[in-house]
Amino acid sequence: MAAPPRYPDKFSRRDRGRDWLPRTEPLAGRVIAVTGAGRGIGRAVAARLAAAGAAVAIGDLDAELATETAGAIGGRPGGRLLGLSLDVTDTPSFEDFLRTVETQLGPIDVLINNAGIMWVGPFEEEPEEAALRQFDVNVHGVLRGMKLVIPEMRKRGRGHVVNIASAASKVAPAGEATYAATKHALHGYSTAVRAELRGTGVHVSLVMPGVVDTELAVGTATGPTRRLTTDQVADAVLDVVLRPRFEVFVPRQVAALTRLAALLPGRARDALHHLLVPDQLAALSDRSVRAAYEQRTRTARLPEG
Ligand SMILES: NC(=O)c1ccc[n+]([C@@H]2O[C@H](COP(=O)([O-])OP(=O)(O)OC[C@H]3O[C@@H](n4cnc5c(N)ncnc54)[C@H](O)[C@@H]3O)[C@@H](O)[C@H]2O)c1
Repeated sequence: MAAPPRYPDKFSRRDRGRDWLPRTEPLAGRVIAVTGAGRGIGRAVAARLAAAGAAVAIGDLDAELATETAGAIGGRPGGRLLGLSLDVTDTPSFEDFLRTVETQLGPIDVLINNAGIMWVGPFEEEPEEAALRQFDVNVHGVLRGMKLVIPEMRKRGRGHVVNIASAASKVAPAGEATYAATKHALHGYSTAVRAELRGTGVHVSLVMPGVVDTELAVGTATGPTRRLTTDQVADAVLDVVLRPRFEVFVPRQVAALTRLAALLPGRARDALHHLLVPDQLAALSDRSVRAAYEQRTRTARLPEG
């Protein structure tokens, strides 16, 4: 098998379209694994990366859905797509997933830690099980993925981990206390690991979208911004895979707002947050709209054995 093309670790805007970047398939030869990609943002990301020529592995707790998704988006001739069972909260399952990807597609160039869940409601009513599960999936699931792939990437002197965090890594809407805590944790962890990896050729990125139109966000409000589409997030992920950088906000204006908020004195900052950050308790007057999602995230587990 021909060796995959080597790409520079950094891409600048000027590099776009240069000869060594194939124009139609900028990711040809790259192997990318996406967690929680059976539906929602992960699915759109997998589709976008596959269309750009990458060999993509879709891992999901719902193995049947992962296979279906790989089949549905795998229409490109010569495209290599795998749909596999994965529970990011379980180390042997994550190891099996990565081993299968490497055996069938080759060494992993990029891991996209996307799997995540969210419980919305008053903090004192959140069942302990829901809080623990959010930390298990959103935090430990990502830490696990980083610990499993980065050592090999470091040996090869190249690689990229993209963590799908959230605008809730920087702000904390009422009604999303635990979710925001998990995404803040991801920000801190990724910042520290990035510092440890300086000079190794391995990049860490955080993609932080606002509210996106998926089951996870059903019934929530977006504040003054529009609900994003999964394709908008997929575009941002493709861009950061091509041009690795640390923090990516979707939409971009959120970056300016968080910088501005950080400069303001406490009361002005509170006022700005009050204006811009949606109150999910007020938005969710009818909690039953989230019942099906909550049931799925409460009970979904890999089959035994
Ligand atoms: N939807 C939003 O508004 C929004 C905004 C910002 C960030 N995000 C983040 O984007 C990511 C994807 O969210 P989404 O909106 O597409 O959600 P979604 O519910 O539509 O899809 C999440 C997928 O992850 C899978 N999953 C859940 N637990 C898993 C586990 N333990 N192992 C493997 N797979 C698992 C689910 O089966 C599902 O297919 C999450 O990390 C979420 O926090 C979402």
